[in-house]
Amino acid sequence: MATWSIAPLHIEDLDEFVQCQFLAFVGNPLHDVVYPTQPASAEKHRKAINEGSKLQADNEIIYLKAVDIRSGNIVGGIKCCYYVGEDVLTSSPYAAGITDVEAKATDNDQYCCYVVNEFLGKRASDIKGQHARKFIAKDRKHGWIIDILFVHPEYSRRGIGRELVARTCSMADRRGLKAIVEASPAGKRTYELCGYQSKEVVTIPPKQWTDKPVQLYYWMEREPLRQVRR
Ligand SMILES: CC(C)(COP(=O)(O)OP(=O)(O)OC[C@H]1O[C@@H](n2cnc3c(N)ncnc32)[C@H](O)[C@@H]1OP(=O)(O)O)[C@@H](O)C(=O)NCCC(=O)NCCS
Repeated sequence: MATWSIAPLHIEDLDEFVQCQFLAFVGNPLHDVVYPTQPASAEKHRKAINEGSKLQADNEIIYLKAVDIRSGNIVGGIKCCYYVGEDVLTSSPYAAGITDVEAKATDNDQYCCYVVNEFLGKRASDIKGQHARKFIAKDRKHGWIIDILFVHPEYSRRGIGRELVARTCSMADRRGLKAIVEASPAGKRTYELCGYQSKEVVTIPPKQWTDKPVQLYYWMEREPLRQVRR
């Protein structure tokens, strides 16, 4: 019997959610760049949740947590975004990341800025607007993206990651939406088990920052189980 359960995240869970997120992502170079510190990341999520609640009913930022039933502790989490229209990529959850980094001037900040811009620039050119290369819905206006997925290292390989992704897959299926994710090497298998297919291996070279790694992730897509007519 499962010793964990999944539930929607409450705003008061945010610090614990981020603490677990950081534990799970130790050693992931892209996470270090996109989410530089725990307090800044918690703030970013808080802003996303607050902004999310102000969005139209069709636009949602969905956070789920996995909880150890015995201890009550958060042991995993997922964040995904559903949006209508083009606003998602210019609204605060994304743009905030870039602005935060650009405002600072150290060499490392400049590197972070470069990586975040490459990462989000690719996302924008691939899925945003009428000229998007890899639009999600047939009408090119609806998007479904998993933004964060993590499981506490002590709870890994128990099926928690897979269940978190599966929950969001059913949400996308209900809306007939194609879903995308920029998967880490560690996450790729979990997504494959939920029906995502890798379409592209993306690398971000270190350019002049020769002490930095090549950033690598998989652009993955999942077709909905049923199509909804729009
Ligand atoms: C990726 C992650 C969420 C998987 O969570 P999990 O609860 O361990 O995953 P599951 O138990 O549902 O396992 C799903 C599959 O992934 C595999 N898997 C789990 N961790 C893995 C890892 N580190 N490397 C490769 N495969 C892994 C499992 O073997 C399982 O496949 P199997 O059933 O065929 O054996 C977790 O390892 C994690 O938080 N990693 C660090 C953060 C990260 O990279 N997140 C993904 C961002 S896109």
